[in-house]
Amino acid sequence: SNNAVTARAHTNIALVKYWGKKDENLIIPYTGSLSLTLDYFYTDTQVAFDANLTTDDVQIDGQPASAKTTARVSRFLDIVRQRSGITKSAAVRSTNHVPTAAGLASSASAFAALAAASSRAAGMNLSLTDLSRLARRGSGSACRSIFGGFAEWQPGTDDTNSYAIPIKSHGLADLRVIALTTVKGPKAISSRQGMRLSVTTSPYYPAWIQTAQADLVALKAALAAADFTAIGKISELNAMRMHALTLSADPDFTYFNGQTLTIIDLVKSLRHSGVECYYTIDAGPNVKVLCQSETTEKIVTTFSKVLGDENVIVTKPGPGVQYL
Ligand code: DP6
Repeated sequence: SNNAVTARAHTNIALVKYWGKKDENLIIPYTGSLSLTLDYFYTDTQVAFDANLTTDDVQIDGQPASAKTTARVSRFLDIVRQRSGITKSAAVRSTNHVPTAAGLASSASAFAALAAASSRAAGMNLSLTDLSRLARRGSGSACRSIFGGFAEWQPGTDDTNSYAIPIKSHGLADLRVIALTTVKGPKAISSRQGMRLSVTTSPYYPAWIQTAQADLVALKAALAAADFTAIGKISELNAMRMHALTLSADPDFTYFNGQTLTIIDLVKSLRHSGVECYYTIDAGPNVKVLCQSETTEKIVTTFSKVLGDENVIVTKPGPGVQYL
């Protein structure tokens, strides 16, 4: 189509996590979060509004999207249509640049790319702040993927003031994130459901709000000081406290599998043997290891033996959203 727009957005890994919504419809979180956008994994999405379509036509990686995914994309596009005054349906073509079946496809890169492509295809020319606000409506973590490098999602109180801002960093160019993929089980529980269950049933949720806020303050100080040790320690502890909310929910659940625990042990033994590295884990069994360029090779070798080369991917800080 003549009005097709394509945008690329990269995934991000939160070092201080978002886990719980104050407003589920607008996606306003209880706490701020801070992430690093990664260079290796990204989504390219093309959007064209087309008067010949009667419903949105969504394809992901060359396949028609499921009814559930199409409905979620359509609800998002309804926001764009409402704001732009467009009534046409859209053709959406999305490609995830992640190793197949590794479970690394992310709603963050998906909705950041969709926000950028759909808003421009609808004739809007949004600021990065407004793009971040829009991406947030699709998936909370997507608001951070508008920016490259470190980004902080300021929770805000309503749609106008809940968005991410870039966090400048100096002296962290040698930071690396090693993505470790484990055996893929059935996806037990979405992050959306998981955080709802944590908020409504974990007696530790109020403590999470307190500690996550403190973690964010400490992480920003560590980033400003380019203090890798502090960055790693804060990130690891914050991740485990998030996962404690799943174990303390009713019914309890966990995103970890056996390999997740094996990796955690190995990171700790590497550290005890003088190889400085830390882990963080999102709503799935895969692990991301934070390290610096000089130790990357040693860590890759260690995990390749355990998981196989194909399950060990070295990533670096990546760029913000861009139009292709
Ligand atoms: C563990 O952004 O996927 O990765 O807003 O419901 O779409 P929704 O959730 P989502 O949750 C991300 C959770 C996390 C932590 C993080 O990225 O901050």
